Parts: sequence; C-alpha cells; structure tokens
Amino acid sequence: MPALVLLGAQWGDEGKGKATDLLGGSVDYVVRYQGGNNAGHTVVVGDQKYALHLLPSGILSPGCTPVIGNGVVIDPSVLFSELNGLNERGVDTSKLLISGNAHIITPYNVTVDKVTERFLGKRKIGTTGRGIGPTYADKINRVGIRIQDLYDESILEQKVEAALDGKNQLLTKVFNRRAIEVGQVVEELLSYADRLKPYVADTVLVLNQALEDDKVVLFEGGQGTLLDIDHGTYPFVTSSNPTAGGACTGAGVGPTKISRVIGILKAYTTRVGSGPFPTELLDADGEALRRIGGERGVTTGRDRRCGWFDAVIARYATRVNGLTDFFLTKLDVLTGWEEIPVCVAYEIDGKRVEELPYSQTDFHHAKPIYENLPGWSEDITKAKSFSDLPKNAQDYVKALEEMSGAPISAIGVGPGRDETIEINSFL
Ligand code: IMP
Repeated sequence: MPALVLLGAQWGDEGKGKATDLLGGSVDYVVRYQGGNNAGHTVVVGDQKYALHLLPSGILSPGCTPVIGNGVVIDPSVLFSELNGLNERGVDTSKLLISGNAHIITPYNVTVDKVTERFLGKRKIGTTGRGIGPTYADKINRVGIRIQDLYDESILEQKVEAALDGKNQLLTKVFNRRAIEVGQVVEELLSYADRLKPYVADTVLVLNQALEDDKVVLFEGGQGTLLDIDHGTYPFVTSSNPTAGGACTGAGVGPTKISRVIGILKAYTTRVGSGPFPTELLDADGEALRRIGGERGVTTGRDRRCGWFDAVIARYATRVNGLTDFFLTKLDVLTGWEEIPVCVAYEIDGKRVEELPYSQTDFHHAKPIYENLPGWSEDITKAKSFSDLPKNAQDYVKALEEMSGAPISAIGVGPGRDETIEINSFL
C-alpha cells in the first residue's frame, strides 16, 4: 500500500515536477491535494519542456491517473487551457479525475485578490494574483462554490448570490470598483459544466480503493513548507496546507495510509513574493544563482529571490512534515563556486539559535550564521551515481544530509529526466 507524499521543503519551486515525473512510470495515481494554478511545475521529457500550473505532473505519464483532490481550488478556464495545450502536443488527458468537492476560483475571487493586493500597497503579500486566497477564504466562510454545484443550477445561483452579497459591498464601497452581476457569473460557471462532467468523480473513494488494491499513489504538494498557512512564514504564505498533513485532508486519505514523505530540497534557497528570507543574497552571487538556476517563476514570470542553503529551514521541514527522505535538486547550479556558504544557525538579538523561531518578530531579525564548504568546478551533469560526483560535491551533500535530519535519497544534477542520481529507491 505505498502512498507517498512529495512536497517542497522550502518556499516552493524546488523542482517537484522533475521528482514526480521521475516516479511517474511506476506510480498509478498522482494527486494534487491543495493550492491551485498558483503552482508552477516545469517538466522536461526528452527535448520537450512542459509548464504545468494546475494539473498534477503525472499527467505526462501514460499509465498514470492524475487526480485533482478536494483540497484544490480550480479555475476552470485555466484548467481547460492547460488541457488544450497538452492535447495539442499529443498528450492524452482523458484519465484525469476531479473531486466534486474541490472549490472553484470564480472571476470575483480573482478580482478580490488583485484589488486587495493593490490596497495593501507596500504591505502586500506578493500573491500570484490568481484568486487563491479569496477562494479559500470563501471556502472557510462557507460561501464557496464547488465543482458539484455546477450541476444544480438553482443552488448555484443561490450560492453565487450569497457569495456576492458582501463582496459587492466591499468592491463598490471600499475598493471603488463596479459591482459584479450574479447572472453573469452563473452563466460563465455553467458554461464549464459539460466539459468538466466526464472528469468529476468521488476521488476519496477512488483513492482509498486504489490503496486497498495495492496501487502506488503519489500525493504531490504545490508551493512549499514555508508557504503553509499554518506552518509557514505567516502572513507571507499561501492560503492552504502544502505540508504533509494537507495530503490527508486535501485528498481524504487517513494518516495511517501514508508510507513515505519526501521533501524536495533545492541545494540553495529561493523565494517568490514578499516576506522574510534570512539567507537572501542581494549581490553578484544572488544574481549568479538566479541566472544559472533559471530562477524565474513558471506561473508569474517574476524573478525569484535567491540565497544560500538554509539548514535551519531544512530541519524544520523534516520535523513539521515527518520527512522520511529528501530529494536534493539543482546541485549542478552550484558548480563553479570556490566555497559555498551554508547557513547552519541564526543569530537573533545576539544569541545563536539552532531552530526556526516560532515568533515572527524573531524570524524577521534572524541573521544567518554560515559555514563555508569547499566547492567544485567539474561538470556533474553526467553523474549517474553518488561516487561519480567530485569529492567536494559528495561532502556538500553529506553535510546537508547531516544538518537536515533525513537521508538524501536522490540528487538532481540537471533539468532532464535522466539527470538524476538515485541513491535509495522511493518505492
Ligand atoms: P498566492 O498563493 O497566490 O496567494 O500567493 C501567496 C504567496 O505564495 C506569494 O508569496 C507567492 O509568491 C507564493 N507562491 C504561491 N505559489 C507559489 C509557488 O508555486 N512557488 C513559489 N511561491 C509561490
């Protein structure tokens, strides 16, 4: 009954798509359990590069059933354009399953996301502007619209009316915008119903039956641990739970079913949007990491903020997710530095702190304490096994493993599917 969770151990963009796809051939189901089209996965298959935002990356593996779980928020227009794009390139998407309980990102959720950010000015979160936060807010406020609502027109109308009641007051009176018409929203939502219908399923039942039948199920987290609404750097977070527990609630699978939790860990650190980032580099090294690592958002096209590896964060990710393994990505990006600094602890108000402080104020004051590790200059992209790596690269990996608290079971040495060193099999 192998149920694996694969999630970002830092602030997202660790290279999850590559890891999921590496397993794709042996995995029967790939499930997204939270987030929406704020995620961005780049998957390279042969000479083809795919950018996915909402669909699970397992959609590219022919034997695999991709599932969008109840915890995900879906913008149907984005879903269709992603499906169309894949179909045009010959990818069969007919096996996709979508939970009827997943919430819909409505046009007014997108509007509220954008105007709220504008209104916050320099205090903005730096959201992707895709309506994620407002859609989850509606869900928690119990005025959300779910996929299943598309199949009962009168209920849909009542729900949209309830949701827009307060929002129109806000839009017109606070944000000075035009009110949104109920009829127009209902019409747009209904226009998606027929095309969505074949995909809609009781995904909780399907997944639990699959696990009983000994199928391999992979739960794929969007974003990352430090962007978790509960365990991340609140309020500079996304509005869902990318951490391991989110897989249980967002897919309807009990925690006793999860057999392995794999944290994707970049060999350095990046973050998009606002918020604290102790090892951020605002110098030539940061620029070099951005350039060599191609650190530009798949979803937003924004440059990512770059910095050295932070072991405090990695330890925190191990703890909060109960990680059993790490998949270390983008090690090749660090080739060429004479020495590579690694943050081993923080200095906060003159004191050495080994673990992530729970206080937001303390974290904002955290200064990295670095240890310099010797670098390497050899090309590592052709390495097939750990012993193929130069000694200093091996030592860098071993040091990260020791500091981070879980074994590194795979290492990415290039963007291609085959540019991965497998140390321990995930299955
Ligand atoms: P939202 O998810 O659009 O609400 O944005 C909230 C925060 O999460 C912002 O800082 C975004 O930049 C960040 N974020 C959302 N999705 C991703 C992702 O896939 N990778 C990295 N950062 C993300």
